[in-house]
Amino acid sequence: EKGNYRHFMQKEIFEQPTVVAQTLSSYIRQVTQSVTLPQMDFDLGQVNRITVVACGTSYYAGMVAKYWIETFARIPVDIDVASEFRYRDPVLEPGGLALFISQSGETADTLAALKHCKANGQTIAVVVNVPTSTMAREADLLLPTHAGPEIGVASTKAFTCQLAVLAALAARLAVLRGRMDRAEETEVVRHLVETPACLNAALAHDDEIAQMAHLIAPARDVLYLGRGPDFPLALEGALKLKEISYIHAEGYASGEMKHGPIALIDDAVPVIVLAPSGPLFEKTVSNMQEVRARGGKVVLISDAEGIAEAGEGCMATIEMPKVHPLIAPLVYAVPVQLLAYHVACVKGTDVDQPRNLAKSVTVE
Ligand code: M6R
Repeated sequence: EKGNYRHFMQKEIFEQPTVVAQTLSSYIRQVTQSVTLPQMDFDLGQVNRITVVACGTSYYAGMVAKYWIETFARIPVDIDVASEFRYRDPVLEPGGLALFISQSGETADTLAALKHCKANGQTIAVVVNVPTSTMAREADLLLPTHAGPEIGVASTKAFTCQLAVLAALAARLAVLRGRMDRAEETEVVRHLVETPACLNAALAHDDEIAQMAHLIAPARDVLYLGRGPDFPLALEGALKLKEISYIHAEGYASGEMKHGPIALIDDAVPVIVLAPSGPLFEKTVSNMQEVRARGGKVVLISDAEGIAEAGEGCMATIEMPKVHPLIAPLVYAVPVQLLAYHVACVKGTDVDQPRNLAKSVTVE
């Protein structure tokens, strides 16, 4: 039940610190400060290529995982939306691991892609929230998320739990490949353990974001920008807004703006910029300034340092805790979820059951 919440989506957004902690607890060994995965009867250390396949929000979790796995473990990762993967005759070589990500474990396109990979000799890993689902049963390596039932059609807590599992997987692959030593692993574990507290800090901005939603609700189009592992978060922010508020939104890699979408910018287009301070910050901010110079109204989501440096002249800012780049995508998921949620509330749409959408897409 919804308890004190107005909608399931809201309840599920607020459950994230708890369910992410719950999920992480089965992937972290506190005593040894190490990352651990469930049993499998193949050698994960021998995997030389990973193919990630998923749909919608689960696909964006996969995009983040590509950054992490390539950065930490140096294993090449291909990623596709399931509906494209199935029909493009992908090259699947022996020794490959195919990784499927799904809340429901029943999405028709993802399931068909899984069967295709199985028939083509790939080892199957599945990140799934429903342990009794079809995908869970097909897995050689089952990586469960412990988000609990997700009722809202817009996926929220399943997404952050998927990211938690994928961060653990990336770290484990890095250890197995000799790319991460004990000290680095301990460091990653420390950051993962801090994640629930950081999610709480992000959730504390709920009221402020509810106010801000009044500035976004009248817009016809909204753009989301991010770079690196935060680029998929821009896509996720745009998807959430589209799904539940019916406002047209696009996520772009910040550096792509000048290759086309900047033509859309005027003072009626809010631009949500996801830019944690760090190595990519200056680059993203310079793209943000290009938007501002054309009258674009910017909402900057960053930490205190980033906001102090670039917040001036923005329509609004949302201050996230300062976090390690590894957990930034989990933490930055919260403000984009809350923004979509509150804009939908302002517009009075059916948040939990948006028009034309089903929770689980079991037909092609
Ligand atoms: O159950 P799955 O994770 O396989 O579902 C995939 C998508 O249908 C799903 O993420 C969809 O995009 C959500 N409505 C997003 O909020």
